[in-house]
Amino acid sequence: MKTIGVFDSGVGGLSVLRALLAEIPEAQFFYVADSAFAPYGERSAQAVVDRSQRMAAYLLQHHTVDALVVACNTATAMAVDELRRMYPHLPIVGVEPALKTAASLSRTGHIGVLATRGTLDSERFAQLRGRVEASTPRIHFSCQPCDGLADAIERADPSTTQLLCERYLQAVQALKEPAQPIDTLVLGCTHYPFAAPVLSELCGPGVALVETGLPVARRTRAVLGLDATGHRSADAAAGLRLFSTGDPAALTLAAQRWLCTSASASHLVC
Ligand code: DGL
Repeated sequence: MKTIGVFDSGVGGLSVLRALLAEIPEAQFFYVADSAFAPYGERSAQAVVDRSQRMAAYLLQHHTVDALVVACNTATAMAVDELRRMYPHLPIVGVEPALKTAASLSRTGHIGVLATRGTLDSERFAQLRGRVEASTPRIHFSCQPCDGLADAIERADPSTTQLLCERYLQAVQALKEPAQPIDTLVLGCTHYPFAAPVLSELCGPGVALVETGLPVARRTRAVLGLDATGHRSADAAAGLRLFSTGDPAALTLAAQRWLCTSASASHLVC
């Protein structure tokens, strides 16, 4: 059986894990939420590289994983190159805002991108944006850093989540260049799919929300050399171990809510 290590700054990576569990049901998953150090998006690049190295080292040394999924846009932007240098033989799959998919879906050509400040300020994001804009020149991306939003989702704080979604969507819609309204919204942080009901309601039916769980899961299946989709045993929790550097009860609750699993999280000192 393949074992797959997954980490994020917190509960957000569960949105990627949800897709991984559906796409690779026969695998054993080890998920680490680095909640004691969340949010990553407002930390220095060096701090995010350091935490990502610790997460990867823990998963490799204690669970001998066959592949690593960096289920965090911010950690991918800042640390995935370094992780690949450190572990050249380990398949490592990162997560990037789905600009290309959004460009192929948009009819108005105006796309909103919500992500952390760390992701949007990164060189990796600038390169991705440059590549997509060069191949689809009619597209305009309005990028909005969402300070505090991942943290509100992490703390399961619905009123702050609602307030920040309203604030950041207004900021994206207020950008008048180009004049067309956005018709596509990229959720460029793995926490944000858990605010999708609020964002959908605020955006209305004419705006498609784009996230990255499914393509990341398919890519992971491919890098492991697996072909047809397998089957999970009747007890879904059997193939899943959850760890949190913060409060394990919060991760257990989030996993119950979003993954419908009975797996309970353990505390990790790392
Ligand atoms: N979930 C992460 C991401 O995809 C990071 C959120 C944060 O910790 O700031 O960027």
